[in-house]
Amino acid sequence: MAPPSHSSSAAERDCASDTDCAFGHDLARALAERPRRISPKYFYDVQGSQLFDRICELPEYYPTRTELGILTQRAGEIAAQIGPRAEIVEFGAGSLVKVRLLLDALQSPQRYLPIDISGEHLEAAADALRADYPGLAVQPIVADYTRPFALPPRLEGAGRRVGFFPGSTLGNFDPDEALAFLQQAARLLRGGGLLLGVDLVKRPALLHAAYNDAQGVTAAFNLNLLARANAELGTDFDLDGFDHAAFYNAPLRRIEMHLVSRRAQAVTLHGQRHAIEEGEAIHTESSHKFTIEGLRALAVRAGFGIGPVWTDPDRLFSVHWLPAAQ
Ligand code: AVJ
Repeated sequence: MAPPSHSSSAAERDCASDTDCAFGHDLARALAERPRRISPKYFYDVQGSQLFDRICELPEYYPTRTELGILTQRAGEIAAQIGPRAEIVEFGAGSLVKVRLLLDALQSPQRYLPIDISGEHLEAAADALRADYPGLAVQPIVADYTRPFALPPRLEGAGRRVGFFPGSTLGNFDPDEALAFLQQAARLLRGGGLLLGVDLVKRPALLHAAYNDAQGVTAAFNLNLLARANAELGTDFDLDGFDHAAFYNAPLRRIEMHLVSRRAQAVTLHGQRHAIEEGEAIHTESSHKFTIEGLRALAVRAGFGIGPVWTDPDRLFSVHWLPAAQ
């Protein structure tokens, strides 16, 4: 899956011990600021992406399988909203499983434009799809979709231009970032629409369980951020010196994940020593939860209209069709 990427470029991603490296730069800033916080995009190195795939299989982690269920069950209704000869613009070269569900249901989709910050990820995804959909033009775009970018001109005879943003990745943005993302999407998708998957508010105990699984996979995913820093940036984080903490912040309607120091310790990054006291935390992720009405209000503020919404019987997750005005 593809996390939101707030500020780095492809060339900045895997630069070991370079002070200009986005990860090194952002971690240095995270360690110096209070409260300490870093973008969740840094979870997804090879190890982190594998851990995320394991999270999606956990009994407690309902979002992935619930969204897949909605997309499978409602594919026909979704395809009817989108219409024939559509162009699919996916924000993040995400789960090929999800976009295949969509492509299989659509009438003669014309083109697939995955947008991702990592070119490698994109080419692998593109090759897999080209093999299985011979009539589909697959045209990856290397870009940071949280920043301004342009799409190529429409193809002759193309139907609607449709954005696809599944997985509740929108929830990783703060509300102002989510609005900015949706505003750009409404502009890019004029005359078409956005198919958006977002996680719904629900009882805190269910949310808590989804981010505090019994096998500790989510804890390993969170702590992998420190392992990645040690491997790529030469930091000396002691992984046993931190606890995974995930809780539902009800007033802000979001799960927060933190790494909490178990004792007074210090870490060195770029030759600079940072003291971390017992109980101090690094905020590593926010995962916002939405109401259907709240999401629709946000979408309208961004310039979308309101279309049908599909949910599962337990109303755990939602998939929205948001038409973009001409
Ligand atoms: C892929 C960002 C939607 O917030 O639920 C899973 C990532 N973090 N478990 C989420 C995640 C901890 C996931 N998103």
